[in-house]
Amino acid sequence: MSVLEVKDLHVAIEDKEILKGVNLVMKTGEIHAIMGPNGTGKSTLSAAIMGNPNYEVTKGEVLFDGKNILDLEVDERARLGLFLAMQYPSEIPGISNAEFMRAAINARREEDEKISVMQFLKKLDKKMDLLNMPEEMAERYLNEGFSGGEKKRNEILQLLMIEPTFAILDEIDSGLDIDALKVVAKGINEMRGEGFGALIITHYQRLLNYIVPDVVHIMMDGRVVLTGDAELAKRLEAEGYAGISAELGIDYKEEV
Ligand SMILES: Nc1ncnc2c1ncn2[C@@H]1O[C@H](COP(=O)(O)OP(=O)(O)OP(=O)(O)O)[C@@H](O)[C@H]1O
Ligand SMILES: [Mg+2]
Repeated sequence: MSVLEVKDLHVAIEDKEILKGVNLVMKTGEIHAIMGPNGTGKSTLSAAIMGNPNYEVTKGEVLFDGKNILDLEVDERARLGLFLAMQYPSEIPGISNAEFMRAAINARREEDEKISVMQFLKKLDKKMDLLNMPEEMAERYLNEGFSGGEKKRNEILQLLMIEPTFAILDEIDSGLDIDALKVVAKGINEMRGEGFGALIITHYQRLLNYIVPDVVHIMMDGRVVLTGDAELAKRLEAEGYAGISAELGIDYKEEV
């Protein structure tokens, strides 16, 4: 079992404090969901865990199996087994989708254990089949000209190919049509198991009908303010952030 622990994490962007002490413990075998109003710092949290240099950690720790990883570069964290599907995946012209995934798989393997081209293509074929993706998507430049939904589906293809220990999926359901939402959920559920943990950032309960989370966190104003089970997401859908924050005694104003 692996553990990813975020401890009293404070993050600032251009001297403005965005995360104000986030605490979170995730174990492999568990699916966590984070919900929270726009601008509360959900993407900032995922960027800081993954090691995006634009986000300055001013206090706290991120521990992977007890070891602080904050001094590691993004690629070192990926090699440890962390994966981030970004809210807005970037386009990388010049590198094919397949090349990118093969390099990412091999980066996590020893010199004498690299995946062969045959093994890679066989696995790719199987996973693309599962996600109903056309073959040509593998040969296109990474995310270049991909539609919004194609980018999201492709992030799940990367997830299935790279098989990380922990995945953070930032709004993996945004912009998906009904069928694509089911396919993306199927891909994530395929990963479910003892050796895998996920943190799913979402605004809608809908995705959580397909991927039932073990733990749900509500984040407001740079902190996790409430943690519960899958029922919490349903309660939030019914009561909204205003209702939940009133119960918690948090000052929160709905934007109109
Ligand atoms: N690079 C940046 N420069 C300036 N401000 C930033 C930057 N990145 C994030 N912020 C600010 O930090 C706050 C938190 O942003 P973040 O993207 O983490 O929110 P979020 O919870 O993911 O919101 P959403 O639900 O809309 O995706 C926002 O006020 C945002 O404007
Ligand atoms: Mg976000």
